[in-house]
Amino acid sequence: MTNIAFIGGGNMASCIIGGMLANGFSAQQIRVSDPGEQARANIQETYGIAATSDNHVAVAGADIVILAVKPQVMGPVVSDLAPSLSATSAVVSIAAGIQIGDLQSWLGDSQAIVRAMPNTPAMVRTGATGLFANPQINSQQKESIQAIFNAVGIACWVDSEAQIDAVTAVSGSGPAYYFLVMEVMQKVGVELGLSEQTARELTIQTALGAAQMASTGSLDTTQLRQQVTSPGGTTHAAIETFKAGGIEESFRQAMQAALSRAEEMSKEFSS
Ligand SMILES: NC(=O)c1ccc[n+]([C@@H]2O[C@H](COP(=O)([O-])OP(=O)(O)OC[C@H]3O[C@@H](n4cnc5c(N)ncnc54)[C@H](OP(=O)(O)O)[C@@H]3O)[C@@H](O)[C@H]2O)c1
Repeated sequence: MTNIAFIGGGNMASCIIGGMLANGFSAQQIRVSDPGEQARANIQETYGIAATSDNHVAVAGADIVILAVKPQVMGPVVSDLAPSLSATSAVVSIAAGIQIGDLQSWLGDSQAIVRAMPNTPAMVRTGATGLFANPQINSQQKESIQAIFNAVGIACWVDSEAQIDAVTAVSGSGPAYYFLVMEVMQKVGVELGLSEQTARELTIQTALGAAQMASTGSLDTTQLRQQVTSPGGTTHAAIETFKAGGIEESFRQAMQAALSRAEEMSKEFSS
């Protein structure tokens, strides 16, 4: 049985644990540490998982240690924890902007380390996580870590650490892009005469339906769009208007801005 310790029992840890328990992991193989009495009580009462205020106790015997604290406190937390970590355990950081090089400087060069970039839909088990490992990781550790993040959605390995910034621009920040599109569609739906409730229901169901079609069918997104865009029809009129407004360039610039900000944040947190 793989033993897993979470350092930090906040929002992200809690949602990953919920997904793990719903997907075959047992409460006995998970341990959590958090300084907050309320956070520990939540974890214990909601999931029946042992929670401690002592990070060193949590990592004893752990095969996988998931660092789920805020990036700002990662340095002191990891440096303090380093002497208690087993050389054979894999350490997974979900903190935005904390680089493998920094983690290695606190933990030593031989430690197996993974950077994970999950997103908020993990809370409803439809998350998308990008994963990158240093070469010290073995295939069994990779498999176990993939299973943890698959429990809250899907998880993909990327080939370089720089690609984690691209993951941030696509899926890390991505839910907000869709929220923005839905926000605008609802607003304009009301301007076109629908009630708030009808505009909201139709917008959300349309987003769900489109995502479902894109994820389950055999057609790619271009084919799906072309399929519903008859020349001279209503969708065609809308799509041509989007194109004339420069939608592709607008997304390119926005996602480039997210990537640049992720790169900057990595430098800010770097020791
Ligand atoms: N939320 C997201 O959508 C998301 C997405 C991708 C990545 N992440 C990353 O996930 C990490 C956690 O985010 P979150 O939203 O779950 O934050 P959070 O809810 O604030 O959880 C962090 C927890 O760590 C605890 N903590 C603070 N110092 C600690 C220490 N020394 N030892 C152990 N635990 C300690 C905090 O306790 P106190 O509150 O008492 O300080 C808090 O309960 C962050 O690094 C973030 O970048 C989050």
